[in-house]
Amino acid sequence: MTERLRLTNAVIKYGDSAAVNDVSLTANAGDMIFITGANGSGKSTLIKAIAGLLPLSSGTVERTARMSYVPQYEEADRDFPARAGEIVLTGTQHPGKLFCTRSDRERADSAMKALGVYELAGNQISSLSGGQMRRIMLARAICGKPELLLLDEPCAGLDAHSHEILFGVLRNMLAGGCAVVMVTHDISDIDGIPEGRIIRISAGRIIRQ
Ligand SMILES: Nc1ncnc2c1ncn2[C@@H]1O[C@H](COP(=O)(O)OP(=O)(O)O)[C@@H](O)[C@H]1O
Ligand SMILES: [Mg+2]
Repeated sequence: MTERLRLTNAVIKYGDSAAVNDVSLTANAGDMIFITGANGSGKSTLIKAIAGLLPLSSGTVERTARMSYVPQYEEADRDFPARAGEIVLTGTQHPGKLFCTRSDRERADSAMKALGVYELAGNQISSLSGGQMRRIMLARAICGKPELLLLDEPCAGLDAHSHEILFGVLRNMLAGGCAVVMVTHDISDIDGIPEGRIIRISAGRIIRQ
């Protein structure tokens, strides 16, 4: 099995207090991992550290370079003047790559089609609803063809139909060898989703796998 992520004994502190305490987890190609827990239990801190956006106070993280991270919706800057399609297209770029090619555009278009937001491509992001914006950010994340996809509360604000679309897209990514780590505070988001491993955290520690 190709390993996509290995987090070992991770401790993440804000000041002196540890928001994540001694957490270890691994994800292989095709693995679906759900991280659940109450508000404030350390889920967002954990997934940001996996993404490399927060330093570990101790422990190690090893991950594939091809990674996409979708922050919790509340953290997106909705006032930035850009069209939805432009935001999606940035998902095809990486450091050292200067231009968008035709195949980048095709990938961005097909990602928007897969998430049912293709017709929103020309709209300013400030005009989108919460659920639409979330799907645009997901389209941006998948068109970079990640091997590791990190999602922080992707289901919040999605209606039942969009929820089904999301899990359809995730199943395709998993079948293609992507590993998905998804944070959700609401266990009912993953009701009826048979595949996947559930990790429950409380006060920054894993209490159940
Ligand atoms: N930037 C920050 N500075 C200080 N404390 C923070 C910061 N972000 C989160 N925390 C604290 O860390 C803990 C975990 O927060 P968070 O990871 O956002 O939890 P969750 O995503 O599970 O709701 C909470 O006690 C929260 O108040
Ligand atoms: Mg959070």
